[in-house]
Amino acid sequence: MPKTKRLAILASGNGTNAQQISEYFSNRSDVVVDIIIYNKRDAYVAVRAQKLGIESRYFSRRDFMESDVVLDLLKARGIDYVILAGFLLLVPDNILEAFPQRVLNIHPALLPKFGGKGMYGHHVHEAVVANHETETGITIHVVDNRYDCGTTIFQARCKVASTDTPDDVAANIHLLEKEYFPKVIDAYIFDKPMPIQQS
Ligand code: GAR
Repeated sequence: MPKTKRLAILASGNGTNAQQISEYFSNRSDVVVDIIIYNKRDAYVAVRAQKLGIESRYFSRRDFMESDVVLDLLKARGIDYVILAGFLLLVPDNILEAFPQRVLNIHPALLPKFGGKGMYGHHVHEAVVANHETETGITIHVVDNRYDCGTTIFQARCKVASTDTPDDVAANIHLLEKEYFPKVIDAYIFDKPMPIQQS
């Protein structure tokens, strides 16, 4: 039997993506969400982790950036892939070097549009509306040591109506994230074809 792939999910906030990924893999024997790691003490993702029965751990920005404590934990738990699901810190080099091509991120826009430092969550949707975009979407990419710049492995699109508010855009983006992020992780890990967007 091939070894079970162990995922660590890194998150900073609400954790809907962390939950969706965890639920998607919950009845699989070949992939397990081993731990959810978060960097904001009051992040709701910790509540979701508890409800899901998945261990979660808080680490401060300093823990991530100025020590090996997170890396040591990932190694000790035999983690194979690190999944960023609404994680707002830059991933430090020690983790990137230990997991080459094995750190994935989701961004709520069609990169390279609306990426970079400060472009996260609702800020992205506000910028999309302010820029009168007619479409937006999600990008799932391999992470490097810059914000939102690694190799893109998947994009899905949705229309933006001229009357859409940032909240409307956010709702459509969350639907795409729910539909595709877990499947794309699955395809990436096992080198299967990426899902094709049904529009
Ligand atoms: C998601 O929309 C994700 O794409 C975005 O943050 C949200 C987190 O939601 N990520 C970024 O903006 C990264 N630059 P969640 O905590 O409910 O999963």
